[in-house]
Amino acid sequence: MPRIVLLGPPGVGKGTQAGPLAKTLGVPHLSTGELLRAAVAGGTPLGREADVYMRAGRLVPDELVLHILTERLEEPDARPGFVLDGYPRNRSQAETLARLVPVDIVLFFELPEHALIERLTLRRSCPTCGRLYNLATLPPKVPGRCDEDGSPLLQRSDDAPEAVRTRLRTYREQTEPLLEFYRSTGQLRSIDASGTTTEVGHRLREALDRPNP
Ligand code: AP5
Ligand code: MG
Repeated sequence: MPRIVLLGPPGVGKGTQAGPLAKTLGVPHLSTGELLRAAVAGGTPLGREADVYMRAGRLVPDELVLHILTERLEEPDARPGFVLDGYPRNRSQAETLARLVPVDIVLFFELPEHALIERLTLRRSCPTCGRLYNLATLPPKVPGRCDEDGSPLLQRSDDAPEAVRTRLRTYREQTEPLLEFYRSTGQLRSIDASGTTTEVGHRLREALDRPNP
């Protein structure tokens, strides 16, 4: 079973694509952002520390993220394979991951910045089941309510304009250089993340069928 990493800027659609892809492949979707948000919601010491960085749109310190990631990777369902979304985000995390588990493919999602900002601003999510919506492109059937469980939809605190600007800058400075790193290892495959979620899903599956360069 494959071990896949999804790499790309905030709002590009990693979380939207990761769930269906993981389901198709029969592996779990591991998201460091979701694991951290669960720790924040649970009020754990790690969550309280991470919350300050997340609200500001900054990276949570490497050792905290590594702690929750290794715990999750050790669960039996993640042993054979996974779709990992949100890790690595800097060079040190990429080197750590290479030591932890062998990754087969790194899928890079590409989208212009104006489209990222639009997707982030219009995002809403369900606090109960985690389902993602977009007020323009994927609206809920009943405004403000989750289609699955009727919970009131929320806007993430880091989707506020200032946090979005910081997240995009952090991405450019710390995460984008990983493209060169994964190009040099031969693990990188890029996909155009514009268009509908169905179109992006098709491109993603095509990219997985391509042989490594
Ligand atoms: P994380 O949760 O990973 O956030 P992110 O990388 O900023 O990415 P997003 O979740 O915002 O975007 P996405 O690509 O998943 O897009 P989505 O599918 O939701 O991290 C959050 C924070 O946690 C970080 O800032 C950091 O503080 C911390 N953190 C996490 N990992 C860390 C790490 N490794 N190290 C240190 N700190 C870490 O889509 C966005 C919107 O667009 C939705 O509304 C969706 O419906 C819509 N949409 C999706 N696809 C399409 C489409 N094709 N067409 C139209 N709309 C679409
Ligand atoms: Mg996400």
